[in-house]
Amino acid sequence: MLFLLLPLLAVLPGGGNADGLKEPVSFHVIRITTFYNHSWKRNLISGYLGDLQTHTSDRNCSTIIFLWPWSRGNFSNEEWKELEMLFHMRCVRILEGMHRYSRELQFEYPFEIQWTGGCELHSGKFSGSFLRLAYQGSDFVSFQNNSWLPSPVAGNMAKRLCKMLNQNQHKNNITHSLLSDTCPRLILGLLDAGKAHLQRQVKPEAWLSHGLSPGPGRLQLVCHVSGFYPKPVWVMWMRGEQEQQGTQRGDILPNADGTWYLRATLDVAAGEAAGLSCRVKHSSLEGQDIILYWGEKELGPRLEMPRGGPQA
Ligand SMILES: *[C@@H]1O[C@H](CO)[C@@H](O)[C@H](O)[C@H]1NC(C)=O
Ligand SMILES: *[C@@H]1O[C@H](CO)[C@@H](O)[C@H](O)[C@H]1NC(C)=O
Ligand SMILES: *[C@@H]1O[C@H](CO)[C@@H](O)[C@H](O)[C@H]1NC(C)=O
Ligand SMILES: *[C@@H]1O[C@H](CO)[C@@H](O)[C@H](O)[C@H]1NC(C)=O
Ligand SMILES: *[C@@H]1O[C@H](CO)[C@@H](O)[C@H](O)[C@H]1NC(C)=O
Repeated sequence: MLFLLLPLLAVLPGGGNADGLKEPVSFHVIRITTFYNHSWKRNLISGYLGDLQTHTSDRNCSTIIFLWPWSRGNFSNEEWKELEMLFHMRCVRILEGMHRYSRELQFEYPFEIQWTGGCELHSGKFSGSFLRLAYQGSDFVSFQNNSWLPSPVAGNMAKRLCKMLNQNQHKNNITHSLLSDTCPRLILGLLDAGKAHLQRQVKPEAWLSHGLSPGPGRLQLVCHVSGFYPKPVWVMWMRGEQEQQGTQRGDILPNADGTWYLRATLDVAAGEAAGLSCRVKHSSLEGQDIILYWGEKELGPRLEMPRGGPQA
């Protein structure tokens, strides 16, 4: 039941911060590079504030692309230019290095390298950073303090890569400063510049429908909740004040407009549907839970998914 409880905790005071983001707030960059052969690679790069994508890059890592008007935070254009250059240089060098040393490192084509790096803030204070590299989906090396360390399970290849990466201590110092200084400042700047967007409260709409019949004499009741923001939401089938433990939550899916969609279903014997209700709690409702009673309203035909529909 923990997964049902967690979203509720996040809605209640103390569970999240005022920005609609769960604590700790993180910023991280994910980069996935697929090396098909010695001359062909593909790069995907994205930056995230919490689970909201804020940045991306072209495939050559030559330009940082800002996905929101506030994605620059409070950094000046000069600072972004500098970061862009640094990012580009490192991206290109690492890619060249991977190609050049692939034999020495015993990387076999095709292979995939995943980088993830970023930092976290707790109550507005820096609370940690991370930078890890995975080879073929397994931990390979990570950056700790001021140098690269091999993953204990990665063996000699990882040790060799660390040796290479640690040759330039100045570079490692810059990496350290990016993670422990630039990154937290970026988060604070983004939280501030994006405040109106991140703190917005959008009320859900809810409606009920029949699902596919689970079997003879049984009904599947479906409660749809859509268009809410922020993401934490609590939805439960109820009989009076009694939570129905058979409630099944789907995944929370994104709508095209940046709001969220969730459905909660309950399988019941046809005779027991009367008196059941779907209850929705969300921070935007300010305690005025939505309660819809099965059979009370016409379940007339309507659009299943307004606002463009979830992007699966
Ligand atoms: C590398 O892979 C790409 C994409 O699969 C292919 O088009 C290209 O011919 C390959 N080049 C070599 C040298 O194998
Ligand atoms: C990426 O770099 C290559 C080689 O430097 C260049 O030919 C290509 O036009 C660049 N692509 C983009 C989208 O900048
Ligand atoms: C941006 O805002 C943060 C937090 O208020 C502050 O520490 C920083 O100095 C500001 N400016 C830059 C360029 O980071
Ligand atoms: C990291 O460095 C700090 C001082 O710079 C030291 O106190 C700490 O023990 C180091 N941590 C690790 C895991 O090496
Ligand atoms: C890297 O940082 C450490 C600790 O801050 C410092 O002692 C050292 O001189 C720096 N090395 C280089 C090459 O910048």
